[in-house]
Amino acid sequence: MSEYNIIDHEYDVVVLGAGGSGLRAAVGLSEAGLKTACISKVFPTRSHTSAAQGGISAALGNMGEDDWRWHMYDTVKGSDWLGDQDCIEYLCKEAPRAVLELERYGVPFSRTKDGKIYQRSFGGMTKNYGNETVQRTCAAADRTGHAILHTMYGQALKHNTEFFIEYFALDLLMNNGECKGLIAWNLNDGTIHRFRSHITIIATGGYGKTYYSSTSAHTCTGDGNGMALRAGLPLQDMEFVQFHPTGIYGHGTLISEGVRGEGGYLLNSKGERFMERYAPKAKDLASRDVVSRSIAIEINEGRGVGNEKDHVHLHLDHLDPKVIKNRLPGISESSRLFANVDVTKEPIPVVPTVHYNMGGIPTNYKAEVITLDGTEKTVSGLMAIGEAACVSVHGANRLGSNSLIDLVVFGRAAAIRAAEIVKPGTPHEKIPENETEKCIDRFDKFRNANGENKTADLRLAMQKTMQSKCAVFRTEKTLKEGINEIRKPFDGMDSISVKDKSLIFNTDLVETLEFDNLIRQAIVTMDSAYLRKESRGAHAREDFSKRDDKNFMKHTISWCNGSETKIDYRPVHTSTLTNEVQYFPPQERVY
Ligand code: FUM
Repeated sequence: MSEYNIIDHEYDVVVLGAGGSGLRAAVGLSEAGLKTACISKVFPTRSHTSAAQGGISAALGNMGEDDWRWHMYDTVKGSDWLGDQDCIEYLCKEAPRAVLELERYGVPFSRTKDGKIYQRSFGGMTKNYGNETVQRTCAAADRTGHAILHTMYGQALKHNTEFFIEYFALDLLMNNGECKGLIAWNLNDGTIHRFRSHITIIATGGYGKTYYSSTSAHTCTGDGNGMALRAGLPLQDMEFVQFHPTGIYGHGTLISEGVRGEGGYLLNSKGERFMERYAPKAKDLASRDVVSRSIAIEINEGRGVGNEKDHVHLHLDHLDPKVIKNRLPGISESSRLFANVDVTKEPIPVVPTVHYNMGGIPTNYKAEVITLDGTEKTVSGLMAIGEAACVSVHGANRLGSNSLIDLVVFGRAAAIRAAEIVKPGTPHEKIPENETEKCIDRFDKFRNANGENKTADLRLAMQKTMQSKCAVFRTEKTLKEGINEIRKPFDGMDSISVKDKSLIFNTDLVETLEFDNLIRQAIVTMDSAYLRKESRGAHAREDFSKRDDKNFMKHTISWCNGSETKIDYRPVHTSTLTNEVQYFPPQERVY
């Protein structure tokens, strides 16, 4: 069949990705006695969860009264009523238990004077259903993701999860619509591996690298989402791309919302605290889509700072230096390194920067992947968690600190569900060879490509198109142009060139395979955005400036075959799981 001697493995469950969600799932699976493999293209503690700064939300009530129902209300409102309320209920109700479990696993949270987990304010988090701000975001200084990742990697090792590190996943092994495992390439020795598993859990993170400027690591190429699309499965709500209000100008590095949570504020070139105009109550702690749009408006109307008036200032120089030293050491260092700024004396130059994908592989609250076949249908053998998934708890806009909690709540949920479905040691069926052959043919096609287009040039063209045509504000014109332009780098793959033909740490080939994953997601993002003729959460259409619940309170479901897309919709879940809380009907969203 091919020159490759394929090495076979059999596991009860395979987890693809070793960030916060993948590791949390792996720990739960191993604890449940399931033979578990965790495959990652980077060393686990280098996963992008390590970049999560400000914290993890949970209504612990350590800093005053709190209630998971208030957290649920805030999340529904933050999602601009696109989130599925059964899933949001599960997230918020389970959050306190998940954070206390992290504490028990050993996460070194910052502490209050009386030894409880320290919690800070974050955007859109309130008590009494929107009436007062609340401190709900549990923090380990401003390195919370880093702390969680290291702790969970230690736990996974302790529980005997088997790691396959620096393995690049190529494709899912599907048979009659069911997932039977995946194929991966060992970057270290060039061998190809086939993993058979009763359940495969995709935990590969977001696809921020479709954009030119993002807070994402170079590795955030949404590989699992690309694999799902190639397997004929859909993605959901891809038009909802979050711009974080405060990426460092010119560099993109994240400056945590925790800065504003600790009392930092934004100023324009006139020295105005402009957020007072856009969100009179919450001001700088309005939700991210609102703050990002406000900054974009200030810049578009000529009130940006700097020579080109194309960014704004974030001040924390008024804060007690002890607070900065203890609670914000990470952003102090990044500001010095990447903006040459001493935050105790000068403001940080910031600009909205792509940060998070609300869209991804559709799942239910048990982390089972769903597809649409008239109605919702689960895909046997496949789960997705974390940023790769669209549960959907974030709907059209995610609240800051709801990402880390999503990772651990649904990582745990996936392990619980897998343990219900799979009996440890169940034998594997034989699967036809044609899926493996298809995967190897694709791998070889790229490896042997001798065209004239460099991957880096095609990637740049994709990133510039996404950045300019599918930005904070969108219009019919920009999106229509975007739909045409984004297909050019896709077509460019017909004549792509991979110079390095080797199999060992061939980064030329890795980047080409990653580009193939990225471009498919870019295409469905653009097409989904074009068809959503309303403004909701992070999707702000200048030509349809209002939310349209009558026509668009529904999830976009998108398939991609080559550069051809198919778009359909499914209803938002409006029922709750228990009678402990009632459905929150749509309201006007003001902060
Ligand atoms: O601003 C931040 O610290 C980022 C947190 C998040 O995206 O949840």
